[in-house]
Amino acid sequence: MEYLKILGQNKLSGAVSISGAKNAALPLIACTILAKNEIKMGNLPNVVDINTFLKLIAKLGGTFTKENNTAKICTSNINNTTATYDIVKTMRASILVLGPILARFGHCEVSLPGGCAIGQRPVDLHLKALETMGAKIIINHGYIEASAPNGLKGSKIVFDKVTVGGTENIVMAAALAEGTTTIINAAKEPEIVQLCEVIASAGVEIQGIGTSTLIIEGTNKELLEIKDFDVIPDRIEAGTYMCAAAIRNEKIKIENVIPMHLDAVTSKLEEMNFEILQDETSVTILPTDEIKPVNIITTEYPGFPTDMQAQFMALATQANGTSTIDERLFENRFMHVSELLRLGADIHLNGNTATINGKNGTLNGTDVMATDLRASSALVLAALVASGETNIHRIYHLDRGYEDLEGKLTKIGANVKRFTE
Ligand code: UD1
Repeated sequence: MEYLKILGQNKLSGAVSISGAKNAALPLIACTILAKNEIKMGNLPNVVDINTFLKLIAKLGGTFTKENNTAKICTSNINNTTATYDIVKTMRASILVLGPILARFGHCEVSLPGGCAIGQRPVDLHLKALETMGAKIIINHGYIEASAPNGLKGSKIVFDKVTVGGTENIVMAAALAEGTTTIINAAKEPEIVQLCEVIASAGVEIQGIGTSTLIIEGTNKELLEIKDFDVIPDRIEAGTYMCAAAIRNEKIKIENVIPMHLDAVTSKLEEMNFEILQDETSVTILPTDEIKPVNIITTEYPGFPTDMQAQFMALATQANGTSTIDERLFENRFMHVSELLRLGADIHLNGNTATINGKNGTLNGTDVMATDLRASSALVLAALVASGETNIHRIYHLDRGYEDLEGKLTKIGANVKRFTE
């Protein structure tokens, strides 16, 4: 297994360019299942989860070629409708094939994803919505077996909770369903906006894009002609590098971003007393004379993203005062706390709330273990500011979602090296 060795407290400077958004690219790859044509997708992040999803498309019978950050995907030959456990266990987002395959073929089998490091993460809302659209669903030998021999029917879906993946699955299913589907309490993340725009560019009428009510006119199984597109920039990767600048209190320019997607992160950094300059495609974090504490509640977009919570916790260890982070989306998303404690942080947990007492400059490098994707990036940030060396083990979590992390950090001045245990 590989690990990262980071020698902390190097001066950071310069600019870092943000890759395409993993969480946008995954549903976009799934939506190629709705298409009859080959689709060229640019600005794909070079990360493990994307390669895993492409492998899943190939297992289903689709074909793809990938060169650097561009893939061409064709699903016209799909002849297998089962997403098997070996893939689903490594990437929960595999559930995103359920909606499009069921809508296109009238049946689909997906291994139940099971729990994961950040919580139980059920898919009941995806299934309930598909049932409302006429699907019959049984759970058999650990697999979701969904069928809709007469096709999915457009319906009114009211999500009990805002669900990103659930909204994506139903948008894709609704695109090939018969009639109109109305999704109430839909998620509004930029990744969903892009998915809707790509499907709409193929002629599917979608009203309410970017709002919590989506109205989709299905094509009644007529496959789509989806246009080529580039994946939007990764707002979580961007936020992570903004936190890297902030935790070292240095000036860094973050390029190739959509600043509006970063509003929640930018505004929390401003509350922490950082000045942030913006232009159309970049944000620049300027150093401050005092990092102030902050109170954060994670919520759905456009609120503060749960995927940035761990990174802000690392940053809060450097604030002059006491910060709180209230995790409202996932029940077990504080796995990074015990690792930050090993680095010398002063953090107390009470249910879903973490209280972080900032102790400027007092983290000390040691060995820590990555537990999930974003928790791992919090450890990287902490290591950048800790004294001495930090070894971050199990970095396969990081490789799932951060393209060329060492390369990008090294370019802005960090001392980061990868080794094999
Ligand atoms: C997506 C993101 C993930 C992010 C999360 C919340 C991808 C690939 N992953 O995950 O990085 O942290 O959104 O912004 O885009 N829930 C149910 N039943 C369901 C579905 C969800 O109870 O059927 C619950 C979840 O357990 C969680 C909440 O709803 O508590 C939100 O989950 P959801 O928005 O669905 O997250 P994902 O799509 O899995």
